[in-house]
Amino acid sequence: MSEISKDLVNSILSSYTVPYLEIDPISGNLVKDLSISENLIKLELELGIPVEGIQHVISKDLNALIKQYTSATDVIINISSKIRAHAFQKNVNALKGVKNVIAVGSGKGGVGKSTLSVNLALALHKEGAKVGMMDADIYGPSLPTMLGAHGKAESKDGKTVDPLQSHGIQSISMGNMTDSDDTPVIWRGPMATSAMQQLINDANWDNLDYLIIDLPPGTGDIQLTLCQKIPVTGAVIVTTPQDIALIDANKALKMFEQVSVSVLGIVENMSTHVCSNCGHEEAIFGTGGGETMSERYDVPLLGQIPLAAQVREAVDNGEPTVVSDPNSPITATFLEVARQVAAQVSRKPKNLALNMPKIVIENK
Ligand SMILES: Nc1ncnc2c1ncn2[C@@H]1O[C@H](COP(=O)(O)OP(=O)(O)OP(=O)(O)O)[C@@H](O)[C@H]1O
Ligand SMILES: [Mg+2]
Repeated sequence: MSEISKDLVNSILSSYTVPYLEIDPISGNLVKDLSISENLIKLELELGIPVEGIQHVISKDLNALIKQYTSATDVIINISSKIRAHAFQKNVNALKGVKNVIAVGSGKGGVGKSTLSVNLALALHKEGAKVGMMDADIYGPSLPTMLGAHGKAESKDGKTVDPLQSHGIQSISMGNMTDSDDTPVIWRGPMATSAMQQLINDANWDNLDYLIIDLPPGTGDIQLTLCQKIPVTGAVIVTTPQDIALIDANKALKMFEQVSVSVLGIVENMSTHVCSNCGHEEAIFGTGGGETMSERYDVPLLGQIPLAAQVREAVDNGEPTVVSDPNSPITATFLEVARQVAAQVSRKPKNLALNMPKIVIENK
């Protein structure tokens, strides 16, 4: 066979669609380096999403494709991840140490926002991203319990607070601002919003790719103000499949629209009930709600999480399913949602100001 040309390799790459990104490496500008020497091809791809769980699949696919259409005997593929900062609403400032904020909301309470938020954060971390979590539920903070992140957050300088660390992610909650998790704090509306904002702005986030904000239930003033004042890259809406929950989810959709926050997609929680004894699946809350909403409002359905006793037990114990049962099918579903969320974020316009290299002037 004749010498392998870059054009040939490029056309092979053009024919391949990268999972989750739904684009080929050439059109997506993902090729960082390509070198060919005789029968050796070295290819480096850089993706804007975390790649731990998918790099092997992409390498394997491309290796097979390249070997099928060229005379290459050795193909070395390296896939890395570089998560960039993406744009958010106008007239808000970026958070120090945070590239992308993802807000998780719902119109209705108790649909599993917090459960989804913690598992989503842990799944993104497992995929290789640096992740933080903010519990914006000032009245009923649940992160300290769900993440096992108990205790009071420390402040070294009396101004900023250091997030707690648990299961590899940084987190902060109003529950970490008092000596005991369950000391009730009474807030009036405007005070609650400003306390929340202060907590978010004053936290020492350490170089986060994603900060997940678990919003309080509903679409009232607190939610609205928070979404106006925090730089949100995109929102995830959680709903259960029945009609009544979907009406509320729709309200959440409208609320995000109103404050110019783009909606990354919806997650249907408690889709079917999986019996822990026999594994039988039953659609207790009906079926197809998430799909209907996704079609009607043209927002992606990011995944469907089953109603399963293990999911509740795991968050109650501070060891969410993604860490306590890493190889279970439910964890696979959370990982799938995390990849879809990351892919949606990567499609948003980039925040050029935040991605500029820092200019350092040195006197020599
Ligand atoms: N997929 C699931 N399977 C089983 N139990 C679940 C599932 N999702 C959530 N739960 C349970 O349902 C209850 C409500 O969930 P969660 O607290 O996450 O909802 P929420 O929307 O954050 O509620 P709130 O509106 O009060 O903030 C919790 O006890 C949780 O453990
Ligand atoms: Mg909650």
